[in-house]
Amino acid sequence: MSKTYKIAVVNGDGIGNEIVPAGVSIIKEVAKKYNFEVETEDFSWGAGHYVKHGEFMPENGIETLKKFDAIYFGAVGLPEVDDTLPARDYTFKVRTELHQYVNYRPVKLFSGVQSPLRDKTKADIDFIILRENNEGEFVQNGKIFYPDTPNGCAVDTSMVTRLGVERIAHYAFKLARTRGKKVTNVTKSNTLIYSLGFWDKVMQEVADQYPDVEYSKMYVDNASASFVLKPEVFDVIVTTNMIGDILSDLGGAIMGSLGLGGSGNINPEKDFPSMFEPIHGSAPDIAGQNIANPIGQIWSAAIMLEHLGEKAAADNIVEAIEHATTGGDLTKDLKGNASTSEIAERISSFINS
Ligand code: NAI
Ligand code: MG
Repeated sequence: MSKTYKIAVVNGDGIGNEIVPAGVSIIKEVAKKYNFEVETEDFSWGAGHYVKHGEFMPENGIETLKKFDAIYFGAVGLPEVDDTLPARDYTFKVRTELHQYVNYRPVKLFSGVQSPLRDKTKADIDFIILRENNEGEFVQNGKIFYPDTPNGCAVDTSMVTRLGVERIAHYAFKLARTRGKKVTNVTKSNTLIYSLGFWDKVMQEVADQYPDVEYSKMYVDNASASFVLKPEVFDVIVTTNMIGDILSDLGGAIMGSLGLGGSGNINPEKDFPSMFEPIHGSAPDIAGQNIANPIGQIWSAAIMLEHLGEKAAADNIVEAIEHATTGGDLTKDLKGNASTSEIAERISSFINS
């Protein structure tokens, strides 16, 4: 009997409404081809939902999501909605309450895409960013004092725990064993001497347990320059929540466009469903025009299927993406004229060929 996966689908806002449905069709096509079943259920959550109902998702939203094998998500946020809310009320809430402590963000150059790094090839741009996804700078532990007075003052305190560092570290070293056997720990522990000094100490303790994996540290300022000048030095990067957020947009940029980056918010133990989404946001500036690049969203579907154990289907999606990028005309962000639906169509016809 074939396996059935229950997938919660959350388009979110903006271009999510265009690229998520494109991704869902591709998931259904590979399911047919590789003989498994997919049951999807749509949830109209996000900033649009907030405008109508005063909340990003219902109170029992997390409980609802727990019944699924995975969550396939676009992005949340709209210009007319207070932008301090989407992360707090949806994205971080799901990532933390479902213990998705690994944010897995591959960076690679697809054939046919021109990287802005003119001398770099496919062989040079091929690494994974692992962003700690549950704590660090983004725990939203802070306060604004006397905001409207001359004594106004604000604090945000980041949080680093031994458990938090150990689990992402073990994930990084195990992943490196399946790739180039190299882990780079990116921090700024020379200035954030307490939180990131402790991060480094725990990271080193874990590194000592993997003597077969080459381990090094790099500060984020140097890492940013290295993304541009020598991306070939990276294999697996392990880093904090905020540094990983920033570096993954830079990773998207050196791939050629933010619209290419796929990702997984992963609970490796599979005690809770994981959530798969592109690295970018809801791009309201280009929403509703059928010009968004759907590749990051579709790549996220491949990452999801690999997590669920459908590696052949996942590989087929990545191959189909590469077929589409090699084929020539691309979306506007990659200086082409193809529409969102034309790229999705090209990917799907390769899968069905
Ligand atoms: P963004 O990633 O949505 O857009 C940045 C730039 O990249 C824009 O010029 C956009 O047009 C372009 N872009 C993004 N994805 C693209 C695609 N698939 N194809 C072609 N071009 C693409 O980031 P921005 O503008 O900072 O944020 C917009 C909204 O998204 C905000 O409300 C923000 O809070 C939200 N956001 C949500 C995220 C999530 O739900 N995980 C992540 C990042 C931002
Ligand atoms: Mg981001």
